[in-house]
Amino acid sequence: MSRVYLTTAIDYVNNRPHLGTAYEKIAADVIARYHRLVGRDVRFVMGNDEHSQNVFKRAKEQGMDPLAYCDRMEGEFREVWARLDVSFDDFIRTTESRHKVAVQEMVQRSLAAGDIYEGVYEGWYCVSCEEFKPEKGLIDGQCPVHRTTPDWIKEKNYFFKLSKYRDALLAHYAAHPDFVAPDSRRNEMLRLLEGGLDDISVSRAGQAWGIPLPNDPGSVVYVWYDALINYAAAAGFGADDALFDRWWAQTGESGRTVLHLVGKDITRFHCVVWPAMLLSAGLPLPTQIFGHGWVLFKGEKMSKSLGTVVDPLAAVEKFGPDPLRLYLTKEIVFGNDGDFSWDRFEEKYNADLANNLGNLVSRLTSMAGRYRQGRLVATAADPVLTEAFGGVATEWQAAHERLALDEACAAVFRWIDRLNEYIAVSAPWHLAKDADPAPLDRVLWNAAEGLRLAAVMLSPVIPASAREILRRLGEGAAIETWHTARVWRTSGDRQVTVKDALWPRLEPKKETDVTEPTRPATPTAPATPTTPEGTVAIPASQWPLDTRISIEDFLKIDLRVAKVLEAEKVPNSKKLMKLKIDLGSEQRTLVAGIAESYEAEQLVGRTVAIVANLKPAKLMGIESNGMILAASADGGKATLVAFEEAPAPGTRIK
Ligand code: ME8
Ligand code: MG
Repeated sequence: MSRVYLTTAIDYVNNRPHLGTAYEKIAADVIARYHRLVGRDVRFVMGNDEHSQNVFKRAKEQGMDPLAYCDRMEGEFREVWARLDVSFDDFIRTTESRHKVAVQEMVQRSLAAGDIYEGVYEGWYCVSCEEFKPEKGLIDGQCPVHRTTPDWIKEKNYFFKLSKYRDALLAHYAAHPDFVAPDSRRNEMLRLLEGGLDDISVSRAGQAWGIPLPNDPGSVVYVWYDALINYAAAAGFGADDALFDRWWAQTGESGRTVLHLVGKDITRFHCVVWPAMLLSAGLPLPTQIFGHGWVLFKGEKMSKSLGTVVDPLAAVEKFGPDPLRLYLTKEIVFGNDGDFSWDRFEEKYNADLANNLGNLVSRLTSMAGRYRQGRLVATAADPVLTEAFGGVATEWQAAHERLALDEACAAVFRWIDRLNEYIAVSAPWHLAKDADPAPLDRVLWNAAEGLRLAAVMLSPVIPASAREILRRLGEGAAIETWHTARVWRTSGDRQVTVKDALWPRLEPKKETDVTEPTRPATPTAPATPTTPEGTVAIPASQWPLDTRISIEDFLKIDLRVAKVLEAEKVPNSKKLMKLKIDLGSEQRTLVAGIAESYEAEQLVGRTVAIVANLKPAKLMGIESNGMILAASADGGKATLVAFEEAPAPGTRIK
């Protein structure tokens, strides 16, 4: 069985996790769960980076012993990870003895190789970065990341011969094009290597908080040199040879992968320093280092020191972990930066979960309940679906294999659209009136199979919800491996359960949030524009300014995408058609004056645009709730507003 050893960066514990640090752990968890699903043996490791001066300072500020402080923070980190459903197999702290053993072993090996020598460092040091800063890297004398003046230090340091490994690293990069991903990161690292490397300090003098150097206990190991070794320590380096052999020493053989997932701000340490340390110690290099992008908030990196943090638990409290996990995985191109805003988060929640996946679950389970008391019997596969599924499954898997997590999600959501469409087009509510039960059985069974597969494919991203969907579909608790799960079933039966909506729709906020527009806001009626010369300019439109409405007024009209479920001509009326429509969260009846232009059969299954918040009106004794949008030139034949690609019912139009 192939093996994957997967790590994230270990977190500084001077603050609690924020949405940016959580993003990395969620992405790693999606990767780990995918590998387990496809049947690989996975060891997923996370942990805490404790020997930082900032951690020491924070403990002192709180009047705590540093280790006691780190113990408390471990609890806080673990709680956040548990609530985000992050399924690590091991959690390492740099104050643990297994880690200290590994660090000392690593230093001994590099000393023996003649790669560590004594010297003096004189220069800048940014404590917030925990980095020695060359003068040329400062902007106006300040650290560009933290916008603070670094400390000037002069002290005895031990140096690691990083420069010695430049050529070996370049050769490794050339032989392993995937060593650093994505390509933008790889190119950045190659430029750095090509420019030449300086040796680096690997110890700090006169500090109490850290791991003593074995050859000079008056110095401690520099926090980055210390922290990087966690990856080997958690694989048993220096302490558990069998474990190390299993997870690390065999890397490079086919089917053995070591993958480090880290943020793009710390790629230099991971792609240059860490591999050189491994080469010096005579150890194999990781298979790949993937440098993900940043979660931005209002355009800036979400960061503790910049005060732009969002608490991931704020989202979990309201929605559970899955909507947040889905948002971060699906909306951020993996490898790129991506924005987080509450507006956009809620918008995607409504679109993807309430209207799309949630709606599919509700429709299908309630129809199974209504028409078959929940009991569905297997039928032949419907080739319309199985052919499409083949493509989706291949796309989903290929995207995961190249860590395109967002594309893997998008593929499943296209499949969910396809299933909603399948139900709309097959119109089970009509089939239910047939004397022959077979057509309805076939649609319900096939749609249920499609939904089961969607849930399995989404299980790495929304594990708890996927399990709940499978439970409602009458599946056992455990998700099988992909290899068996992916087979479209044509025998057996299932007992479907009908329950409350998984993701109730969020009502749009009453007032639009002007501080965070999701798209450029149109200003309210502007003052009469003037040209630089002061003469009155000609308005750009034929509508006089005083009759134009503001964006706020426009947004009072709730335009929505709807799907026509049933259509019938209103008796004794030439023009009126009675429609039953699906609005995602509800179904309604409305009456439209389109009977002269459309036959009832042409309308069923069609996606239309409606005004959803119109007061009810009675037409020929039927209460109409809403208005369908159509154009008719000079009162002639009406033509319905249509979409290029049908969005899910309930999607807002604006
Ligand atoms: O760097 N978006 O720890 P850390 C995405 N202890 N990722 C972010 C982020 C954001 N807004 N902010 C932080 C350290 N991260 C070291 C690592 S590893 C041997 C030592 C990521 O707590 C960041 O890029 O500052 C890093 O990968 C991780 O969170 C921990 O950051
Ligand atoms: Mg950081």
